[in-house]
Amino acid sequence: MSGLDSPGNGLNPTVPPVESGRKSQTRRVFGVLIRIDSVTKRYPDGTVAVDRLSLDIPDGSITVLVGPSGCGKTTTLRMINRMVEPSEGTILIDGVDSRQQPVNTLRRSMGYVIQNAGLFQHRTVVDNIATVPRMLGWSKDKSRARARELMERVGLDASFAKRYPYQLSGGQQQRVGVARALAADPPVLLMDEPFSAVDPVVRKGLQDELLRIQEELGKTIVFVTHDIDEAVKLGTMVAVLRTGGRLAQFAPPAELLSDPADEFVEDFLGADRGIRRLSFFSSAGLELLTAPIVAIDATAEQLAARGATEAPYLLVTGLDGRPLGWSEPGGLTAGQIDAGQLLPYGRPFTAGQDSLRAALDCAVLSPTGWAVAVDAEGRAAGVVSQAAIGEAIRGAHAHAHAAGPEAAQKATTR
Ligand SMILES: Nc1ncnc2c1ncn2[C@@H]1O[C@H](COP(=O)(O)OP(=O)(O)OP(=O)(O)O)[C@@H](O)[C@H]1O
Ligand SMILES: [Mg+2]
Repeated sequence: MSGLDSPGNGLNPTVPPVESGRKSQTRRVFGVLIRIDSVTKRYPDGTVAVDRLSLDIPDGSITVLVGPSGCGKTTTLRMINRMVEPSEGTILIDGVDSRQQPVNTLRRSMGYVIQNAGLFQHRTVVDNIATVPRMLGWSKDKSRARARELMERVGLDASFAKRYPYQLSGGQQQRVGVARALAADPPVLLMDEPFSAVDPVVRKGLQDELLRIQEELGKTIVFVTHDIDEAVKLGTMVAVLRTGGRLAQFAPPAELLSDPADEFVEDFLGADRGIRRLSFFSSAGLELLTAPIVAIDATAEQLAARGATEAPYLLVTGLDGRPLGWSEPGGLTAGQIDAGQLLPYGRPFTAGQDSLRAALDCAVLSPTGWAVAVDAEGRAAGVVSQAAIGEAIRGAHAHAHAAGPEAAQKATTR
C-alpha cells in the first residue's frame, strides 16, 4: 500500500487472513482490507437499499459486487468512501472505523471510476488525469508528468494528452477515467459499472487491461457490475446481492459456478454455468495427438504413414508449422496439396495455457469435431477429439469434487 496519507494504512495484524482462489497457478493469501460489518442503509424515504450486509474485502485483489438492478451495489460502494453514510453497522478500513478518518483523507485513499468515466469536459485528457495530484498541491509539471506516465499504463497513446473528452471514443474515455483514479496512487479503487457503456470488444480489452494493472500495482479493487461474465472474469471474490440489499453468496467465482448457494444464485449465473466453469480447468492435461499432422510438402511415404493414424482427418500445416486446414487422408496427393481446398480448422487453442472451455470451443467450431492445439508461436502442437476433451472434463470435475470447490483455478481468461 502506498500513497495513503493517513494512520492505519499498514495491514492490521489482528485481522485474520482470508484465503481466496486466484487466477494464477499459485494460491495467495490475502488480508482483509475493508470489512463491511452488518451494514444497513435506509434512505430517508424508508427504502432499505442494503440490509445487514457483512463482507470481508481482501487486500490486493479484485472483489466484485454483482446482482440485479436496484439490489444496492452502488449504495454499498458509496458507503465505502462515505459518499453515503450507513444507517447501521460499521465499515473498517484496515482495521480502523472509517468514521474516524476525515472524509477527504478517506476519499483520497480511494480512486473512484464510474460508467461513462465522468470526465471534466472542459479539461484536456492530461489535466483530467492530473486533477487529484493538483488538488494535493503537486506542481503543474509534476502532476502532468504523472498523468503522462499513467496514460501509458492504461494503454493511451501520448498523442491524446491535449485532447478534450469529446474527442475520444467511449473506451478511451474510460481509460482516462481509470488513469485519473490511479493518479494519486490510492491503495483502493472503487469502480461502479465502469465498462458497461462500451461495446463487447472494447470491454474485453478494458477488462484485460484492468487485470494487468491490478497484477502490476496490487491495488484493492471493489468492482460493481450486473454482468456475471464480467464478475467471473475479474473477481478474485464475488459477492452476489439480491434485491433488498441482502447477500446471497460470497465466494471465489469457481465456487459460485460449482456450488451456487441457492436457486437465486443459480438463476443469476444462467443456464451455461457448466460451460463457464470449464474456464477454471486447464487444458494442460489433454493428450494431444501429433501423428495426424502433416506438412504441406509431405512426401508420399509420409502421407501414407500418417493415413494410418486413429484420427479420421489429417491436419495440414504450412512450412512454418502453422495449421492450414483439415483433409481426409485419401484427399491428399504429395506435391499437390492445395491449401484452398482444405476444411477450415476453426480457432485453435494454446496448449496448456488456455482452458478446457477454450479447447471445447475449438472442437465444437471445427467441422471435423477435432480441436487444434498450437504453441505460443502459433505452430500446430497436436490435435484432440471432442470425445477426449469430454473425458478430460469428466476427470477434471471428479478431481475438483474430491479436492473441494476452491481447488479449481482459473486457467486463463478465455
Ligand atoms: N437517494 C436515494 N433515496 C432513496 N432511495 C434510493 C436512493 N438511492 C438509491 N435508492 C434506492 O436504493 C436501492 C438500491 O439502489 P442502488 O443504486 O444502490 O442499486 P444498484 O444495485 O446500484 O442498481 P443498478 O444496477 O440499477 O445501478 C434502489 O431501490 C434505489 O431505488
Ligand atoms: Mg448502480
